[in-house]
Amino acid sequence: MYLGLDLGTSGVKALLIDRDQKIVGSANGALDVSRPHSGWSEQEPAHWIRATEEAISGLKAKYPKELAAVKGIGLSGQMHGATLIDASDKVLRPCILWNDTRSFEEAAALDADPRFRKITGNIVFPGFTAPKLVWVAKHEPEIFAKVAKVLLPKDYLRLWLTGEYISEMSDSAGTSWLDTGARKWSSELLEATGLGESQMPSLVEGTDAGGTLRAGLASAWGMGSGVVVAGGAGDNAASACGMGTVSEGQAFVSLGTSGVLFAANGSYLPKPESAVHAFCHALPATWHQMGVILSATDALNWHAGVTGKGAGELTAELGDTLKAPSGVIFLPYLSGERTPHNDAKIRGAFIGLGHESGRAVLTQAVLEGVSFAIRDNLEALKSAGTRIGRVTAIGGGSRSRYWLASIATALGVPVDIPADGDFGAAFGAARLGLIAATGADPLSVCTAPQTAETIEPVSALGGAYEEAYGRYRALYPAIRPLAQ
Ligand code: XUL
Repeated sequence: MYLGLDLGTSGVKALLIDRDQKIVGSANGALDVSRPHSGWSEQEPAHWIRATEEAISGLKAKYPKELAAVKGIGLSGQMHGATLIDASDKVLRPCILWNDTRSFEEAAALDADPRFRKITGNIVFPGFTAPKLVWVAKHEPEIFAKVAKVLLPKDYLRLWLTGEYISEMSDSAGTSWLDTGARKWSSELLEATGLGESQMPSLVEGTDAGGTLRAGLASAWGMGSGVVVAGGAGDNAASACGMGTVSEGQAFVSLGTSGVLFAANGSYLPKPESAVHAFCHALPATWHQMGVILSATDALNWHAGVTGKGAGELTAELGDTLKAPSGVIFLPYLSGERTPHNDAKIRGAFIGLGHESGRAVLTQAVLEGVSFAIRDNLEALKSAGTRIGRVTAIGGGSRSRYWLASIATALGVPVDIPADGDFGAAFGAARLGLIAATGADPLSVCTAPQTAETIEPVSALGGAYEEAYGRYRALYPAIRPLAQ
């Protein structure tokens, strides 16, 4: 048995697979985000441990024998978070998360130093880890002075699981401190932010062993000794392992809290000026590109909160048949945007409201706005040399047929729905646990699921969508001077 643990923004998921990669079962533990100021987004690392214990207890209650048979664990996690610990592993402040944009000034200052783009292959985005540390140095110098290690969220969980300071390439590529082509820390970039390599965890590949489960936890969970914890991956690369998006030409769209258009690359293809992320993949000698939007289901959940309805209820109101854009356009920049704008200060908007714009019209505009934002990502990836002929859809938002039809039409490519199953980040993490524990060949483990159904672009609405996308694109430069 192999266990995948995905530390997401809204919860921890624990998923068990057997040697044939059949899913045995899964359980969750919930997490909240605290937003004490506009643009801030934080979580207490202690809550990650509590949510993990909750998820494991859920598995243990249902599958005690299977859990006891676990030989390998894989970790996946929300990327970029800055978890700061002192020399006795005490957490120094709440973790500053991936969608926290407070450090936009520090990010711009680092990004203006040409070494960052050259060595990391990426813009220094405000959500990335390095500018957060510069912010802490400036605003909380007494905390910065005590930082003994900077850990990404899943690697803090690993410290709790194994007692070791270890990270892997795919997540570390999102820190702005990794030499992404050479797959090693850049001491030059660390020094530029007042840090040194001794404050970083050591690095392994995602498919390698990255620690052993502590005896205390193994016995509490009924497991034997020597349970291997794999390097694992950032949640997007982990999802890619789950979906079999590991070789050139394969791509997926993820509709989670954030929205991601992800393409696997056989080589390292940086193009920072496009705001495309070029990161290491979880498999050795493999890289990937992705465009990231900060609010995907987050935008729908915001709308649900405002209207007092559930997200599922709102999408159900639209039915399954795609409608032509109504003229109301929504810009989903609720916490700024990454690809393609790299703008932490921009905020969202509804444009074109009329007396007739009821709740369903607004829901439609929210879904379309996210689809158009993902189209912006497709254009950015194209400009960075990646061609995408079809995508597979994953994430909570992919439960809405309407949304998938909207994405297929906005992108002009078919969207595949994987056959029944759960091929997300926790599954990918479990696969990495299997590979690390057994030495299996990564490519023969990380295969693509069967496609249950393909949602084709609605050609009759192609023109209307193109026209609406043109208006959507024109809105960002128009509102930028007003929305900051
Ligand atoms: C990727 C990113 C998000 C988080 C969400 O760069 O910031 O997709 O990983 O968990």
